[in-house]
Amino acid sequence: MKLIIVGAGWAGEAHFKAAEALRRQGADCRVAALVDVDQDHLRRKAAEWRVRLTYPDLSAALDDQVDADAVVLATPHHLHREGAEAAAAAGKHVLVEKPMALTLADADAMIAACDRAGVCLMVAESARYRLANLAVREALDAGKIGQVLSGRIHPITRGRHTYMYPGRRAWLADPAVGGSGIWMLNGIHTMSVARMLLGEPTRIYAREVHSDKFQSPLEATVVALLSFAGGAEITVTISAELHGYKRFGDIALFGSDGTLHLRRDDPVELAVYTDDGEERIECAEDTIEGAAGAFVRQMKEFMAAVAEAREPLTSGRSERRTLAAILAGYESIRTGGPVDL
Ligand SMILES: NC(=O)c1ccc[n+]([C@@H]2O[C@H](COP(=O)([O-])OP(=O)(O)OC[C@H]3O[C@@H](n4cnc5c(N)ncnc54)[C@H](O)[C@@H]3O)[C@@H](O)[C@H]2O)c1
Repeated sequence: MKLIIVGAGWAGEAHFKAAEALRRQGADCRVAALVDVDQDHLRRKAAEWRVRLTYPDLSAALDDQVDADAVVLATPHHLHREGAEAAAAAGKHVLVEKPMALTLADADAMIAACDRAGVCLMVAESARYRLANLAVREALDAGKIGQVLSGRIHPITRGRHTYMYPGRRAWLADPAVGGSGIWMLNGIHTMSVARMLLGEPTRIYAREVHSDKFQSPLEATVVALLSFAGGAEITVTISAELHGYKRFGDIALFGSDGTLHLRRDDPVELAVYTDDGEERIECAEDTIEGAAGAFVRQMKEFMAAVAEAREPLTSGRSERRTLAAILAGYESIRTGGPVDL
C-alpha cells in the first residue's frame, strides 16, 4: 500500500514508522508523499524520513496524481472532514487520526463520502491495538471472569497544571484551532477501549472537577458512570490535573466468576483472580522494528481491511459511536444529568 501522510507531527511520525516497520518486514507498504503546511518542518522531516515527494497541502498532492492508494490524516481535528472528503473524492482509502471529527455531522459526512467513493474509512484509534488492551479483551472472551458486572477504567493522562502542550503542538489544547479538552483528546481512547471490552454504552452520567489552580477554561478531570447494554456499570476517570508524571492508571473489572486487574504501571501487568487462584498474563507494550507495536498492528489492520474489502476493526462507523459517547459525556456535564445514548 502506498501512502500519502498528511501532517508530519507526532502522529504522522508514528504512522511513518509503522509503515517503515512493515516495509522492512517485507510488506508491500511505503510512504509515497508527505504533506504539511509548515514548510520548514516538512523539509526537515522529508529529509529525515527520505520521502522524495512533498506538498504544502493535500489537494496539491492529489492534483499532482501522486501514485498512492491511501491517505493518512494526522492533522488538527477540525481538518479531518475536509481531508477525508478530498481523499475519498480522489478514490483514496482513508486512515484518519482520532477523534475522527469533533461533531457527528462531520463524522457522518466522512462516512458518507467514503461510502460513495467505495473506499475504506478507518480511524487510527491506536489504543485498540495495544497489547495490554487486547489481552484484557482476550481474557474476557475466554470467559475468565464470567459476566462483567462492574468496574473502573482509569487510564492516566498527564499532569499539566495548565493543560498546555508545548511548541508546535500548542493547538491541541486550543479549541479555536481544532484542539479540545482532555475528555475528547484522551477520553476518546478510553471510550473506544471500553466499547471493545464491554459492548455499546447505553447511558452516561459525567461530572467535571478542577482546582482553582487549573489554568484552562477546558475540563480538568472528568468522572463518568457508563451503563452498558450487557448490564455492566463502569466508572471512567480522565484527568489533565495530575501532579507529577506517573503511570498509575488501571482497568479493574469485577465479574460473576472473577476479577481482572490491568495495571498500566511500569511494568504493565494483567492479573486475573478467581476462586481457583491467580493468573498473570504477560502484556508489556512492544516495539516492532523501531515503531510502536500498536501503530504497526493498526497499519496492518488498515492494509488487511483494504485488501479484503471489509470494514476495519476501528471503522468510521464504529468510531462514530465512540465520538457520540464522548459528546454525550459533554452534554451530561453541561446539563448535570445522565444522557441516554
Ligand atoms: N493515536 C495516538 O496515540 C495519538 C497521539 C497523538 C496525537 N494523535 C492525533 O493525531 C492528530 C495530530 O496530532 P499530533 O499530536 O500529531 O499534532 P502535531 O501538532 O504534532 O502535528 C500536526 C501536524 O499537522 C500539520 N498541519 C496543520 N494543518 C495542516 C494542513 N492543513 N495540512 C497539512 N498539514 C497540516 C502541522 O504543521 C503539524 O506538523 C490529532 O488528531 C491527534 O488527536 C493521536
